[in-house]
Amino acid sequence: MKALIATEKPFAKEAVDGMNDIFATAGIAVALLEKYTDVQALYDAVADADALIVRSDKVSREVIAAARQLKIVVRAGAGYDNLDLAACTARGITAMNTPGQNANAVAELAVGLMIYAARNSFCPGTGSELKGKKLGVHACGHVGRLVATLAQGFGMEVYAFDPFVPASAITNAGLRVCASVEELYATCRYVSLHIPATEQTKKSIGRRLLSAMPQGGCLINTARKEIIHEDELEAVLRERPDMKYMTDVAPANHAILQASFGARYFATPKKIGAETAEANINAGLAAASQTVRFLTAGDTTFKVN
Ligand code: 3PG
Repeated sequence: MKALIATEKPFAKEAVDGMNDIFATAGIAVALLEKYTDVQALYDAVADADALIVRSDKVSREVIAAARQLKIVVRAGAGYDNLDLAACTARGITAMNTPGQNANAVAELAVGLMIYAARNSFCPGTGSELKGKKLGVHACGHVGRLVATLAQGFGMEVYAFDPFVPASAITNAGLRVCASVEELYATCRYVSLHIPATEQTKKSIGRRLLSAMPQGGCLINTARKEIIHEDELEAVLRERPDMKYMTDVAPANHAILQASFGARYFATPKKIGAETAEANINAGLAAASQTVRFLTAGDTTFKVN
């Protein structure tokens, strides 16, 4: 049996070493494809793989078609919008993610972006503090809960909206529950996004929610670019000179936003939320272990299709 680790954005070396050990112990061969620039390299490498581990790499219908003996694909990370689940299911291929494994790294970046915004992108001049400000956590999964805990440490008042989490779980964590997404945005000066990119959420963050934010509003996006209505975001930034947008995922109109809004806008050059050695090790080792347990014992924990 053979497992392919295909990562356009490579894991840290310690993660790859650990994954190799897990597969070696199980007697499973490993192939490593890193920093590929041509998808044909992925088609070729996956042709004889029984298992595939990826990060944000697109596992499209074409990749699945090229993977003639694939049984499992594991997204080493949380969001699995890069996997064509319908194509996997049609071929009987199990798809998994590794929820929570890289969450701390993403949460720390979200707080870092908040500080960067509060301190005017580290430009000279008077900034503000996070203490005492209201933060809205838009979705209370692994990352959202960690952001809330870190923000509480800064003395922020934390609100949350998540229709899939019981209100009691939110209040037990010391957060204030918002009954609607509108209430979250209308209440909080800072909003940190932690929703996945789905057909329901794509382009869902736009003028209606952003223009309702209080004076000095700041949106932090360490989730996905697709959830933002980019034209409406640009319009709100023009209309509201007090608003800021800090993102780990550059929008399509990045050049315009950068030229127009100076320190009120910042995007990382490449998605780095989960780019820590710790997150790579946690997610990579979990992906390898889940793959081995599936191939050797049929364990389908964390199956998403
Ligand atoms: C995730 O969904 O887990 C994060 O967005 C991390 O993505 P990455 O593996 O491409 O860094």
